Amino acid sequence: HVAAALGAIEQATDLDQLKETRLAHAGDRSPLALANRAIGSLPGPDKAAAGKLVGQARGRVNKALAARQVELEAERDERILTEEAMDLTVAPGRRPLGRRHVLTVTAERMADAMVGMGWEIAEGPQVEAEWFNFDALNFDKDHPARQMQDTFFVDPAKAGLVLRTHTSPVQARSLIERGVPLYVAVPGKTFRTDELDATHTPVFHQLEGIAIDEGLTMAHLKGTLDRLAEAMFGPGIVSRLRPAFFPFTEPSAEMDFRCFVCRGEDPSCRTCGGTGWIEWGGCGMVNHNVLRAAGVDPERYQGFAFGMGVERTAMFRHGIADMRELIEGDVRFNAQFGMEI
Ligand code: PHE
Repeated sequence: HVAAALGAIEQATDLDQLKETRLAHAGDRSPLALANRAIGSLPGPDKAAAGKLVGQARGRVNKALAARQVELEAERDERILTEEAMDLTVAPGRRPLGRRHVLTVTAERMADAMVGMGWEIAEGPQVEAEWFNFDALNFDKDHPARQMQDTFFVDPAKAGLVLRTHTSPVQARSLIERGVPLYVAVPGKTFRTDELDATHTPVFHQLEGIAIDEGLTMAHLKGTLDRLAEAMFGPGIVSRLRPAFFPFTEPSAEMDFRCFVCRGEDPSCRTCGGTGWIEWGGCGMVNHNVLRAAGVDPERYQGFAFGMGVERTAMFRHGIADMRELIEGDVRFNAQFGMEI
C-alpha cells in the first residue's frame, strides 16, 4: 500500500489529482486508515509492533503528500504568474467620448458664419416680457399669435411674461442696448404650444439676424442669407424670397432654397415633399414701427431681419427626417454626426 500511495502521489500532476490521491491513500476509508483502526482488535503483544509499522507508513505517506502539495502549489503559482501577466506598458483602452449635440453644433456653425461676415452675437432671455415678444415688434393687441394656443404664458392670470415664441424680441433689445449701426445675430431657444410630431416640437431653436444701417436694402438681405445658406449647405445654393407677412417686417418674405436632393425634378422627393423648394425661415425689411419703438429714426436708418430654424437647418444638412430624433437623447443617434468634444 505504501508503495502504491507514494507512486500515486508522485504521479499527481495537479492539485486536484493530489486531492483525490489524498482521499484514496490517507482518507478515512483508505487502506492505511482501515489498518490503523484494525490495530485495536489485535492481541496485546502484536499491538505495539503493528502500531509502529502502520504509524511509520502513514507518516511517510503524509510527508510525501505534503511535499508534493508544496511542489504543485509552486507550479500553479508559477503558471498563474505567466498566464495572467499584465503588460503595464500597454496604453489603456480609450473611454468613448461624448458628442456635442447636433443642434448645439448647428446653431454654433450658423452663428460662426455670421461672425465671419462681421456680425456680433447677442443673447436674450427665454422668459421674455410680452412687450418685447409682441408689442415692440408691432403686433396688434388682438394679434392671433398672442392667443393661448400659440404662446406659453408664464402665469396666465397675470399677463406680462411669456416663453418667447421667437428670437425676434432680441431685435428690440439689441436696438435699445447697442444702438445703430447694428449687425447682430441671435441663436437661441424658442417655445410654442405645438404638439410634438415629426415636424414640430414645442421647444425649438432659431437664428435671428438684424442689420440696421444707412442705406441697407433687400439686396443686402438676400446676399446675407445666401452666404449663410452656402456656409450651411455648400456652394451653389439657389434661393428665392416668397412674399409673406410678419408684423415687424415690411415687406416680409419666406426664404426657400432649391431642394439639393432632387433639384426640383422629382415630384416624389421626400426631402422637399415634391415641391422642389425647402422653406428655411422668415425675413424682411425691419418695420419702421419697430425702429421707432426702440428710439431709432427710420428716416435715417433702415435694415433687415431674419429668423431661420436651427432644427430645419440640422435636418437638411444631415438628412434627418424626424424632428423627434433631435430631442430623444439617444446617444447612438447623436454619435452619427461625428462632432467630438
Ligand atoms: N420671428 C419670425 C418667426 O418666428 C421670423 C422672422 C424673423 C421673420 C425676423 C422676419 C424677420 O416666424
